[in-house]
Amino acid sequence: MRAGIFKVTLLSLALLAGNSWAGGGSPQVNYMLHCSGCHGAEGAGSPSDGIPDMRGALGHFLKAPGGREFLIQVPGTSQASLGDADVAVLMNWMLKRFSPAEVPAGTPPYTETEVRRLRAAPLADVPAVRERIVAALKAQGISID
Ligand code: HEC
Repeated sequence: MRAGIFKVTLLSLALLAGNSWAGGGSPQVNYMLHCSGCHGAEGAGSPSDGIPDMRGALGHFLKAPGGREFLIQVPGTSQASLGDADVAVLMNWMLKRFSPAEVPAGTPPYTETEVRRLRAAPLADVPAVRERIVAALKAQGISID
């Protein structure tokens, strides 16, 4: 029953999205279609399954060296079947939606050009890069899971 409702929801979202595959889809719809299956509608993820909780955490990444890059280079973002402009809009939306209080003042939004450059430079070892970011944040007194 629940699965049935979920499918209907996805179908209506796909219809709502219209030509989002051609670019220009709303970030909320792109998030629901491309990310929420793993990350949850509200970004809570499933930490016990290795999917981090992005709520109140995502913006902290912007305070560590390599963190801004990481949010785009992480496979879920970089390998999404979305264009670079849509990914930029999506990540700007996710930061505001899931972690507005942690985004440093004056943070410039991601741009299509920046996203294109970062997607062309994939991470060899995602957990190691994340560990370095978590350690850098810890040194600033910020703890994320
Ligand atoms: C198939 C499941 C899956 C999908 C779909 C997915 N992700 Fe992820 N995501 C993960 C996992 C697992 C991680 C943990 C790091 C890793 O193993 O890649 C992660 C980590 C992340 C992170 C880093 C968060 C942190 O705290 O380290 C971001 C940002 C992210 N994903 C964004 C996205 C975006 C944006 C989308 C949709 C375009 C997306 N993901 C789709 C599974 C997924």
